[in-house]
Amino acid sequence: SVLEMEVEQINKGKYEHYMQKEIHEQPESLTTTMRGRLIRGGSCKAKTVLLGGLKDHLKTIRRSRRIVFIGCGTSYNAALAARPILEELSGIPVTMEIASDLLDRQGPIYREDTAVFVSQSGETADTLLALQYALENGALCVGITNTVGSAIARNTHCGVHINAGCEIGVASTKAYTSQIVVMAMLALAIGDDTISSQGRREAIIDGLFDLPNKVREVLKLDQEMKDLAKLLIAEQSLLVFGRGYNYATALEGALKVKEVALMHSEGILAGEMKHGPLALVDENLPIVVIATRDACFSKQQSVIQQLHARKGRLIVMCSKGDAMSVCAGGSCRVIEVPQVEDCLQPVVNVVPLQLLAYHLTVIRGYNVDQPRNLAKSVTTQ
Ligand code: G6P
Repeated sequence: SVLEMEVEQINKGKYEHYMQKEIHEQPESLTTTMRGRLIRGGSCKAKTVLLGGLKDHLKTIRRSRRIVFIGCGTSYNAALAARPILEELSGIPVTMEIASDLLDRQGPIYREDTAVFVSQSGETADTLLALQYALENGALCVGITNTVGSAIARNTHCGVHINAGCEIGVASTKAYTSQIVVMAMLALAIGDDTISSQGRREAIIDGLFDLPNKVREVLKLDQEMKDLAKLLIAEQSLLVFGRGYNYATALEGALKVKEVALMHSEGILAGEMKHGPLALVDENLPIVVIATRDACFSKQQSVIQQLHARKGRLIVMCSKGDAMSVCAGGSCRVIEVPQVEDCLQPVVNVVPLQLLAYHLTVIRGYNVDQPRNLAKSVTTQ
């Protein structure tokens, strides 16, 4: 029955904590997010994406001068992860706004803008106030939420539900990966289906179909991440370096560690390394470097070399098979992850970092589902 299903969903089942359960159910939550929305296409029909909640507004979105992503916390990071593929497929400039900062600045929002509000709960006060502000300024407002009937879902002109299922852990995990997938589908829906983009579009759609399997595969790193957490238990700080598609992964990985493990952690754009962060590097400070295969790979290899030269204590996340080459010239610990289409790689790469944050928290003896001083939904300013 529906009731039994809901109770089942709220139970932790075989897991000790909701965060753990929600990390491990990502293959299923991602499947639900995509259900009915990816069309495989017949013999002569192209593969495509169908987002019912947007279909009456797609033309307007395509004509907009700018797309502005607005959110807080993990939802902001998810939008940041999707930004490059949205820019690539739509050709429309995409800008990022933290909801509170947009309000503080009363930043310009125009009638020609599409403002996309990303929120798991759909109730975050700052995001909701930014929505009211964008509505007053005449922008087309799109909601991406996990909560049917939430304030953001009700007050936007149109939107997409991520359908990740109820998320209980204060630190967002499965909502993050589902938000990225929805925004990748949004990019496919907005982008023109030109001959030149067809190969790329099909590769992304194939990648989406296979993504739950790849996430299942990366979840097998659970024990490895637990072992790594044991090594890091007494550290004061952890840096996470990323760039391109995985700049967001660096921010989100660091946010998870900070939120639940109560350890200082900072996500750093690797391209900015020489403008400050390099000063922190010594043989003690642990640094995660995300260096999976994509167009930025060789730049990340050179970042690793420079960190090696400063005797940095590196933990490198790389694509399967790259362990040897990626650490050449120095010693480092490696996290090997399955490779997927570049724009979907953030979905895979965040999982080991979620696991690391989870285990670090449990080992350090902190409350993983309800971290000190934090709330699942921040409904006051
Ligand atoms: C709080 C939660 C975070 C969440 C953020 C935004 O800070 O603790 O996990 O990412 O709010 O919430 P939203 O519901 O708008 O995605």
